[in-house]
Amino acid sequence: MKILLLHGPNLSQLGSRDPEQYGRLTLDELVATATDEAASVDAELEHAAFESEGDLVTRVHAARSDGSEAVIINPGALTHYSYALRDAIDVLDVPCIEVHLSNVHAREDFRRRSVVAAACAGSVAGFGALGYRLAVRAAADLARA
Ligand code: DQA
Repeated sequence: MKILLLHGPNLSQLGSRDPEQYGRLTLDELVATATDEAASVDAELEHAAFESEGDLVTRVHAARSDGSEAVIINPGALTHYSYALRDAIDVLDVPCIEVHLSNVHAREDFRRRSVVAAACAGSVAGFGALGYRLAVRAAADLARA
């Protein structure tokens, strides 16, 4: 089973970006954690990160025909305003899980709203790297259901 993990803008800066909110793991280390969890549920993880909305939307489109059986996405700030990303996720016919490192509900007002949430099977927020492990488990379960 292939699970696709996608990241949006600024997550490439993890490790040194606002460690109080996002911890000290780099994006590569976070992806390694998710890859490890995927292996434990007999899944293979593919990862891609994009700084721009259009590139991320294009990769979501490609997920419709690249063998991905579930998608996990941390859209970064696009979470809060990208209707284009939401529409792209809506067109997927495999489950999509939204994940955030920080507890977006306990931060600034604008972070409390996710415009992609309604297109996703569920979301995990506030548990740092553990949230990625949980998301991989959920993705594998949903894909196998
Ligand atoms: C984030 C939360 C977003 O509000 C923010 O813009 C990010 C990271 C998270 O993982 O906590 O870039 O998605």
